[in-house]
Parts: sequence; structure tokens; C-alpha cells
Amino acid sequence: MTDLRTVHVPLGDRAYDILIGPDLIAGAGAEIARRLPGKRCAVITDANVAALHLGPLMDGLAKAGINAAPLVLAPGEKTKRFEDLVAVCDHVLEARLERGDAVLALGGGVIGDLSGFAAGIVRRGMRFIQMPTSLLAQVDSSVGGKTGINTRHGKNLVGVFHQPDLVLADTRALDTLSEREFRAGYAEVAKYGLIDRPDFFAWLESNWRAVFAGGRQRVEAIAASCQAKADVVVADERETGPRALLNLGHTFGHALEAATGYDSARLVHGEGVAIGMVLAYRFSARMNLASPDDAERVEQHLRGVGLPTRLSDIDGGLPPTDILMKHIAQDKKVSRGALTFILTRGVGRAFIAADVPPAEVFNFLEEERIP
Ligand SMILES: NC(=O)c1ccc[n+]([C@@H]2O[C@H](COP(=O)([O-])OP(=O)(O)OC[C@H]3O[C@@H](n4cnc5c(N)ncnc54)[C@H](O)[C@@H]3O)[C@@H](O)[C@H]2O)c1
Ligand SMILES: [Zn+2]
Repeated sequence: MTDLRTVHVPLGDRAYDILIGPDLIAGAGAEIARRLPGKRCAVITDANVAALHLGPLMDGLAKAGINAAPLVLAPGEKTKRFEDLVAVCDHVLEARLERGDAVLALGGGVIGDLSGFAAGIVRRGMRFIQMPTSLLAQVDSSVGGKTGINTRHGKNLVGVFHQPDLVLADTRALDTLSEREFRAGYAEVAKYGLIDRPDFFAWLESNWRAVFAGGRQRVEAIAASCQAKADVVVADERETGPRALLNLGHTFGHALEAATGYDSARLVHGEGVAIGMVLAYRFSARMNLASPDDAERVEQHLRGVGLPTRLSDIDGGLPPTDILMKHIAQDKKVSRGALTFILTRGVGRAFIAADVPPAEVFNFLEEERIP
């Protein structure tokens, strides 16, 4: 494995490695046997991923002498329910796993969030291995220890912080991901450049085609993203401060996801984030915080890779602006009337703005609706 990269997440007694490279699914058995003591695990995955990647994983685990009990769930966000949490917990207990054994998540962020939550609570905390198979999961959700499920009150409202013991990101597994899902995950890759790594953003502007094609640049981009996320997580593991910067583009993005009824045919998360980041730059320019050239540069790159960047790019129209504002206020970054947004002074210069007047946002969105 020549292209293998390792990012270490130094969190004291919860420290772990993220391995990034091709063929880590087939090689997982050997890697796990070398690093972790347990000889048993539960593998949680979804039907799409199981059809493509479960076989090679199970073969590799068996060869390494690891006994694995697979559980295949329905794909999609609707699998992050209490019922699914119960199913995963029961599966782990039925497999008679003990604390030193591991729960292994093979899939996108849905499987990772759900399995990580189960691993965090069964037997008061079991070992947890993330094997992210979507780009979003490889650069974002598998790193940092946030786990959880959705309830009828909203997304990700019930969960625990539970860091993985190991993350294995097989970059070749992304070859089977749809182009649209890959692009959506790429929005989060670009986000790390836009937050505080201008050199990385410039590198992406020159290398994004190679990142999409696979190979060494893909490994590089994912490793740089994991490093960026790890740095933020180490500085603020439980999001009491700077971890909020990771929400760049997300207040607008979440509002757009809500306004389109979380209908993935219309908008997937990363697409909402792409539009949200462009809105954050355009709003920052409107507030004379950043230059319009930077907003233009960000939009040009995201549009160039094929992501939506404007409200008018969303098929089927949007509800009136006052409804969008309600969704923005419902997003958790609100305190006493003023809105907290991640704004920017330029590429790689994002900051937390805790005092954004709602009326300014309203007027801005009214203007933005005009195509
Ligand atoms: N914990 C965190 O810090 C964090 C951060 C960001 C997002 N999330 C969560 O992550 C979830 C979204 O993750 P996602 O975008 O990976 O969604 P997902 O898990 O639903 O995966 C997207 C789709 O791609 C399919 N898929 C995954 N890997 C594949 C592969 N290699 N080949 C073919 N198909 C594949 C899945 O079956 C699914 O249909 C959301 O629930 C979100 O809340 C969590
Ligand atoms: Zn996101």
C-alpha cells in the first residue's frame, strides 16, 4: 500500500489514527488484528454498501482470525431512528460482544452516526471502528466523535460524543459512489480550505479534477481534510468554541435542506452547504467584511466542480423568505434575537459572528432570490 497516509488525532487516552488509502477494506482485518486486542466485532452497514463492499471486508476479517457478525440496514437518512438504534444495540448484544470487542461501521455518515451511538452506549462504551465509504464520511462525519440519531423534533438531537479507536478510509471505495454524492462530499473538502487553509483551497483549484479521478491527489485531499478536522476537534472536542467554524455554510445550508423537506432528490446536504458557503461569502461581502472578488472566486470553484451555488439552482422553488428565516432561527446557532453565523474576511479567513442582525439576513436573502 504505497499511497497510504496516516493522520493522528492526539486526544490523550482517546487518541486514534485515521488511515487513508486504497484497498483498506480488504486489508482491514490485518490492520485491526495488529492494532486492537478483541477478536470479535459487529459490522454495521447499509444495503447499498453491503452489495459492493461487505464481501471483501468479511473475507479480510476472517483471514485475520476476527469473528464478525454483519447487520445490513436500509440505506438513507431515515435509518437514523430510535428503532434502528435498538436494532444495532440488540445485534451487538446477540453477537455476545464484550467491552473489548468492536463495533465496526462500514458506510456513509448515516451508518457511522448510528453505529457510533450504539458503540457509545452498549456496555457503557465499546470499541468503535469507522470505515467510511462516502466522501462526506471520510472527510467529516467519521472524524471527531459526534454520534447520534434523528427524532421527530429534528436531526441529530440525541447522541453522545464517542471517539472511534481507528478510522480506515478506503479511497478506492469511493469509485462506486455516485458522482452527485462525491461532489456533495467535496463541498466539505473545500470548506476546510475556506475556513482557515487558503493554500489548500488554492491547491484544490488546481487539482480538483485529479481528486475526482482518484489516485494520489484524492488521498492527499482526504488526508488534508482529516488533518484540518482533527486540528479543530483537538482544540475543542465538545464544541464549546472554535469547533463551530466547521459550520461554515451550514446555517444557510440547513435552512435550505429544511425548506426542501430534506428531499434528497432536490438537495443533498453537501449541495446545501455549497450554496450556503457561497451565501456566507456573498453576505460577508455585502457587510463589507470580505471582498466581492473572494465571493466570486469561491463561487467559481464550486460551480466549476458542478455544485449548485445559488438559491435559483434549487429545483422546485423555495418557500417565502420569512419561512427561510424561521428555519435559520431554528438552527441551533441562535442566541437572544441576534443570529450566530460563520462569516469571513476572505478565503481561509472564516470567523464566528455572534451578533448578526436578522433584518440584514432577511434583506440579503430577498435580493438573492432574484435569479
Ligand atoms: N458525526 C458528524 O460529525 C457528522 C458530520 C457530518 C454529517 N453527519 C451525518 O452524516 C450523514 C450523511 O452522510 P452521507 O452523506 O455519507 O450519507 P449516507 O450515509 O446516507 O450515504 C449516502 C448514500 O451513499 C451510499 N453509499 C455510501 N458509500 C457508498 C459507496 N462507496 N458506494 C456506493 N454507494 C455508497 C449510501 O448507501 C447512501 O445511499 C447525515 O446523517 C449527517 O447528519 C455527521
Ligand atoms: Zn456538513
